[in-house]
Amino acid sequence: MSVILPPSIAPSEITPEEIWQSRRRWLRLAGLGAVALGAGGLAPAWAANADESRDALPATANSDYRLADKPTSEKDITSYNNFYEFGTGKTDPMEYAGDMVIRPWTVSIEGEVAKPRVFDIDDLLALAPMEDRIYRLRCVEAWSMVIPWVGYSLSNLLKQVEPTGNAKFVEFTTAMQPEHMPGLRAGILDWPYVEALRIDEAMHPLTMLVFGLYGKVLPNQNGAPLRVAIPWKYGFKSGKSIVRIRFTEKMPMTSWVKAAANEYGFFANVNPDVPHPRWSQATERRIGEGFFAPRAKTLPFNGYGEQVAGLYQGMDLRRNY
Ligand code: MTE
Repeated sequence: MSVILPPSIAPSEITPEEIWQSRRRWLRLAGLGAVALGAGGLAPAWAANADESRDALPATANSDYRLADKPTSEKDITSYNNFYEFGTGKTDPMEYAGDMVIRPWTVSIEGEVAKPRVFDIDDLLALAPMEDRIYRLRCVEAWSMVIPWVGYSLSNLLKQVEPTGNAKFVEFTTAMQPEHMPGLRAGILDWPYVEALRIDEAMHPLTMLVFGLYGKVLPNQNGAPLRVAIPWKYGFKSGKSIVRIRFTEKMPMTSWVKAAANEYGFFANVNPDVPHPRWSQATERRIGEGFFAPRAKTLPFNGYGEQVAGLYQGMDLRRNY
């Protein structure tokens, strides 16, 4: 029987709490691996849900923002991820993100604001009442999930720093922990991962600062300790594990536009009528429904047109993809 060993980390790099967490995770993975093999198993070690230790994050359901669709299973949401800092495989984040250090954690808010400030994660958790919302996440790769997020409208935070009249855009920079993020060694993107919104998009009540899912704090692979969710845009706009928010006058350069401007636009609104240069965006595969289940029709603005189409009046959304 193969034994899964924890990766070697210099003790000076981590606190005792992290050593304990990391060891516990690896013991659990090793144990699950043994069970999977014992069961004659083809199931990989991560297949059993390893997130039972996540802390509860109590929230009140916000009926204005709850899709009627059945949520994707917690196991699928937490094991089929895009978080390229940990690798490009869908299960890489689940396998490797456990070592990301998420405490202490601060978010610096700067740029075109009257009151720049560094917020501690605990202050952010207490800033506004936590809400339970059910959003669809549509990935540019033409799959989708329905996710019960926990958090509040990002505007609650942005208002605190009093954006100036010059603030036209909001840029999000996400964490870089080279010793814990094996994907940073691959030149897929020009790290750190940077995304941005126009200020009216960032202030829209649908735009959510997310701290949890399924009533518990976010697992690392989904962007702990905090990320954004912008449900009418392709998932790549929703930066994970944010460390800095900057208000700017000029449109920021974002990671995916820098990597391939002909494929990924700044706006990235879900649009079934504008194909990606290499595939259609007309339909989507619902994760968890099986590979051969009929594909769902993709909706303009991912189904949120009533709330957000007005933000783009007069704009050519084929050119501004
Ligand atoms: N944020 C960071 N920092 N790094 C990433 O690679 N991937 C994006 C987005 N946020 C990504 C990221 C993409 S392409 C998608 S589809 C969503 O996260 C996926 O979120 P999920 O794994 O929680 O479903």
